[in-house]
This record gives sequence, structure tokens and C-alpha cells, in this order.
Amino acid sequence: MNKIILDKIPSTNIYCKDNINDLENFDLVIAKEQTAGYGRFNREWIQNKNESIAMSLVCKDIDSIDEIGKISIVTAVSIVNILEQYNNNICIKWPNDILISDKKICGILIENIIYKNDLNLIIGIGININNKIFKEELSSKATSLYLSNNVTYDLNIIIDKLYLELVNNLSKIKDNFNLIYNKYLNYSVIIGKEIKYNGDVFVVDSITEYGLIKAKSYNNDIKYISSLDISFDKTGLFYN
Ligand code: BTN
Repeated sequence: MNKIILDKIPSTNIYCKDNINDLENFDLVIAKEQTAGYGRFNREWIQNKNESIAMSLVCKDIDSIDEIGKISIVTAVSIVNILEQYNNNICIKWPNDILISDKKICGILIENIIYKNDLNLIIGIGININNKIFKEELSSKATSLYLSNNVTYDLNIIIDKLYLELVNNLSKIKDNFNLIYNKYLNYSVIIGKEIKYNGDVFVVDSITEYGLIKAKSYNNDIKYISSLDISFDKTGLFYN
């Protein structure tokens, strides 16, 4: 378990993928500055130096690709556990954005990499902490702890707390998953909301422990939908 702090790199996820051979289980890579950070669907992820956290946790020797859903749930809840020490309006937007009062404060990007026949995961986490201003197109959608609380924070303290929480929860995933999963469901804003899928309207009934949405149509058709099949449109509904 090593903490590797780098000044300026393209992306902590790329660094972990490129160096997977030399990294150990639960090594944490932190970038003070990322020049080519990216999120889901390869979207640009902007990290302001000294204002936001960019870090990636390496999870080695994963038994099966099916574990990704559970690991993603544990990651989201671990972040909620830390951020709610600073703010009371934290919730989760499926699959794993963390919001404060409907605005995104944190994004998670989990990627897998096979090395010498072993499956490894890279859990990339970006959190807006001291950001004071966002690009115009983001300003209605993004927030930071500073913008919510009007306080600046020491990034290292939050990183250390989160690192401990993640390692603790991921190490005990077999014993603690149900507790964590229930918290994930309780904090998920999507449950009970309407979504569009293949042109039909469904209501989100639940999220499975593998991270799939269980949605029911008004004709009682049930669909299990993966986050890869879906993206947001401007109205906040989903479509595939
Ligand atoms: C998303 O919301 O789509 C996920 C954003 C993930 C951003 C983090 S920052 C640290 C790590 N390095 C990257 O290039 N991306 C992730």
C-alpha cells in the first residue's frame, strides 16, 4: 500500500494502467495536476491545480469482471461517507456521480486492465474541493465544497481520510457489502424517477447489487439496464 504523489501527469488512471506491473494492490496515485484527465465516455475532466483532487486506487487480482458493479457501489458510498462529514446534502446519481444539491462534486471512472492474465481495476476519482469558478458550460452542473460551504480545505486531509475509508471498505467487501449497498440505495436520486429506454418510459424500481438499474414500464415490463447502455439527455432523462 503505497501513496505516490506526482506533480504533473496526463492522468492518474493512465499512469496506473501504464505502470500496472510495478504497482501493488491498494497503491494510490495522486496528481497535483492532470493535463489530460478524462471521465466516462472519454469526456474531458478538468482538474484545477490545488483546488481539486485527482487520484486513482489500484485494485489487483480481481476474481471476476462481475465484481466491478459492487466495487463501484463501495467506492461511491466510501466517498459519500467522507464528504458528508463536510456537507449534509450529498447524494448519488447513478451510476456513480456524487452530487451536492443536484450539482456534481465528484466523478468516478473505474477501468479494468488485464496484466499477465490477472484482472486489475483502476478506480479513478475526481473531487472538486476548493474550486471557486467553473467554465460557463459547467457552472450550472458542477459544484465544489468551497462553493457549498464557503470554506477552503486542505486536500491532503481529505485524500488521507478517503484512502483509509476506501481500503477499509474494499478489504471488507464480503462482510459489509449489504450495509453499504443499502446506503447506496438510500442516497440514490434516480430511484422512483422516469427514464426513457428504447423509446419507452420506465420507472426506476431499484439498482441491483451489480450496479444495473431495474426499471419497470407502465405495462409492468421489467428491464435491467447497464450504465453503458444509457446516457443523460438535456432534460435529465436517460436515453440509450
Ligand atoms: C466522470 O465523471 O465521468 C468520471 C471522472 C473521473 C475523473 C478522475 S480524476 C482522477 C482520474 N484520472 C482521470 O483521468 N480520470 C479520473
